[in-house]
Amino acid sequence: MDKFRIHGGTPLEGRIAISGAKNSALPALAACLLTEEPVTLDRIPPVRDIRTMIQLLEHTGARLDVDGELVTVRAERLERPEAPYDLVKTMRASSLVLGPLVARTGKARVSMPGGCAIGARPINLHVSALEQLGAEIRQSHGYVEATAPQGLKGGLVQFDRITVTGTEDVLMAAVLAQGETVIGNAAREPEVQDLADLLNKMGARIEGAGTSTIRVQGVDRLHGAEHTIIADRIEAGTFLIAGAMTRSDLVIENCVPEHLDALVVKLRQAGAEVSLEGSSALRVRASSRLRATDITTEEYPGFATDLQAQYMAMMTLAEGISFVTETIFENRFMHTQELGRMGANIRVEGRQAIVAGVAELTGAQVIASDLRASASLVLAGLVARGETVVDRVYHIDRGYERIEEKLARVGARIERES
Ligand code: EPU
Repeated sequence: MDKFRIHGGTPLEGRIAISGAKNSALPALAACLLTEEPVTLDRIPPVRDIRTMIQLLEHTGARLDVDGELVTVRAERLERPEAPYDLVKTMRASSLVLGPLVARTGKARVSMPGGCAIGARPINLHVSALEQLGAEIRQSHGYVEATAPQGLKGGLVQFDRITVTGTEDVLMAAVLAQGETVIGNAAREPEVQDLADLLNKMGARIEGAGTSTIRVQGVDRLHGAEHTIIADRIEAGTFLIAGAMTRSDLVIENCVPEHLDALVVKLRQAGAEVSLEGSSALRVRASSRLRATDITTEEYPGFATDLQAQYMAMMTLAEGISFVTETIFENRFMHTQELGRMGANIRVEGRQAIVAGVAELTGAQVIASDLRASASLVLAGLVARGETVVDRVYHIDRGYERIEEKLARVGARIERES
């Protein structure tokens, strides 16, 4: 199992280019199942979750050509409209194929995801939304089976709570349903909007993506298209935090600055300087100790849960006490114990972590527990005194494209050991 060995204490300087968004690329790949014509996607990040999604599409019968970040999907025949347990257990986002498969073939069989390091994460909301479009759903032997032999029918879908992949799943089903679908309490994440942009290029009729009410006029068929995935706002946010906490001067380029507003406000309150460089880059600078600043995670445009762990790592060294409140997932504080091994002072009370800033962290051996938790340990390693070894970095490889190379290029002392 690969590890990262990090020598902390070196400030960073230079420019880091952001990859395409994993959480946009995953639903975009699933959307390719909606047409028998070729769809070409650019800026697909070569991370592990994408390789899993590619395997999943191939399992259904689609053929894929992968050329660096350019991926062409040909889903002429889908002989096996299913997502088997072996793939779903390594990546919960596999449930994104449920909507497109039932819409295209009239049936889908998707393994139910089990528990996960950050919370229970059921797919009940995906299931009840598809039922609103007339799918019949049965659950047996650990699988969800959806059928709609006469096709799906547009309807009103009102989500009980906001779900990102749930919104994406039902959106992909609704584009081929007969008549109009209205999705209420929809997720407003930029990744949902990016998916709607792709679907509209394929001939779908979607309005309102990016707001909490999405209207879809169903069409009989979709056609091929070309689309470029948006920049990964979580990768960009992780490097902005890296720049602030190492008191560096970094430019994060090829990103969409407005997708990072909630984080930028917090970085400024904490004392970092963040400025716009043109329309697609942000510069972060910090020269003195940061101030403790509270965050509460929320759905977009609120503070992203996917940046909570990294932000907390930064707050472990800030002056004062900060409150980090997690409202999206019930168990997303696994990093606190590992940060504690590096000298951080964090107390968790239910959904809140109380972080008392310390003067320094010290390098230690730590274990990554999930994707974003691992990123927080890498950031802590960059500022800790001495050597930090982060074990099980396969978690980080699920969502970051060669993070150690990007950090090393701006001066970090970090190496991968196989
Ligand atoms: N939920 C349910 N039932 C459902 C669906 C969700 O109870 O059927 C609950 C979840 O358990 C959670 C909340 O609703 O407590 C919100 O979850 P959501 O469905 O929005 O999460 P997701 O769609 O499974 C996506 C991202 C996550 C990100 C969350 C929240 C993808 C592929 N994944 O997950 O990304 O944390 O939205 O923004 O888009 C990551 O990249 O590290 C990651 C975990």
